[in-house]
Amino acid sequence: MATIETLKMGHPVLQQAAQPVIEFNTPELDALIVDMLDTMDAMNGVGLAAPQIGSSLRVIIFGVEANPRYPEVEMVPQTILINPEITILDETQEDGWEGCLSVPGMRGLVPRYQKISYRGFDATGLAINREASGFHARVVQHELDHLDGILYPQRIKDLRNFGYESVLFPELVSSQDHQAEEESKP
Ligand code: NI
Repeated sequence: MATIETLKMGHPVLQQAAQPVIEFNTPELDALIVDMLDTMDAMNGVGLAAPQIGSSLRVIIFGVEANPRYPEVEMVPQTILINPEITILDETQEDGWEGCLSVPGMRGLVPRYQKISYRGFDATGLAINREASGFHARVVQHELDHLDGILYPQRIKDLRNFGYESVLFPELVSSQDHQAEEESKP
């Protein structure tokens, strides 16, 4: 299938509420999911919502593989989640840095609920029902926001905590460059 260029902040599709999926196992839905998976992989994202590739449907994907080189990064199961809903299990919020493929090069400090449950359907229409906390819960809340036309900068409490990745985390950006160099070596 295809890698689709992600829409960037300011695009009207990113600002509107997406529509629920009515029918599962259709060629259109399956193609959309493949395009989303391809695009997330190509961009090294941890999550993607259908509106980001121009489809205003309630479909999100996310996941972080366990990586022995980055043991500090929490694993999140690879998930395709359709018509998602969340329940807040603990009112406690926690600040964490977020980025978004629709807001390239930027990072912001965003409060999110620490503990949630979420439910929805997989690509074939089977029910999914899970509890999540920490980074896993953060990713789901970020992606669900996309389906309601909300981008993370709208959640930042103090805009001094919003800026360029290269300025806020110079060591991160240079280590990514370094890693890219290493991986491009034969
Ligand atoms: Ni995003």
